[in-house]
Amino acid sequence: PTSTIEAAKRLAAWTAVDKHVLPEHKVIGIGSGSTVPYVVERIVAQGHEVNKDRVFIPTGFQSKELIVNANLRLGDVDQYPIIDVTVDGADEVDHDLNCIKGGGGCHLREKVLAEAADTFVVVADYRKNSEVLGTTFIQGIPIEVASFAYAKVLQNLHLIGSPKAVLRMAKAKAGPVVSDNGNFIIDAPFPAEMMKDPYTLLTRIKMLTGVVEVGLFCQMAKAAYFGNQDGSVTVKW
Ligand code: A5P
Repeated sequence: PTSTIEAAKRLAAWTAVDKHVLPEHKVIGIGSGSTVPYVVERIVAQGHEVNKDRVFIPTGFQSKELIVNANLRLGDVDQYPIIDVTVDGADEVDHDLNCIKGGGGCHLREKVLAEAADTFVVVADYRKNSEVLGTTFIQGIPIEVASFAYAKVLQNLHLIGSPKAVLRMAKAKAGPVVSDNGNFIIDAPFPAEMMKDPYTLLTRIKMLTGVVEVGLFCQMAKAAYFGNQDGSVTVKW
């Protein structure tokens, strides 16, 4: 890795794989983002003997490519609804292991794979390690919505405490970001007071009709690994 941040991501990913992706694990969920390539790298290093009997379930286009390019066997969650372990990145993780996810717009599949897994483990660099959600650089809570309902959901979000909620726009196209599932993404920042109780907020947002999934992962992760600048790893569990 060329930078401190890349080194931290790799350290977190390798440590988590060494601890949680065991030879007896045959169905493995692979998350999305820039930390997950190091997860796949470490799994590949476990060797062909152990990997030949495994199947890997992706959380989106990017992780599917990672799995295929690493010559690992690809499966899907409709064939394998019980996953041994899922390893994924996060945009932010609080003291209770609640996470904000969906910076890459993949949180619907990520949540399905996290929930389907016996063990869900998060890997990230030190910038994602927070006390309370909403204190890092992420632009609010990512919310995947049915495209035709986005304006109604935006109105709802403005009323329940996120007046600055916006539709996520694509950078290289004139129009909104479209998720791997053909939906739109809203980014909704909420005040710190509301972020302190992410589970209540999650249930309120999820009740809004048109919302497909909310990028708040509450009471899901068994452990979170953060690579630090000094080469150490912080583990929360
Ligand atoms: C994708 O939708 C996100 O939930 C990612 O898991 C998250 O953005 C982590 O990405 P990095 O590993 O690049 O920080």
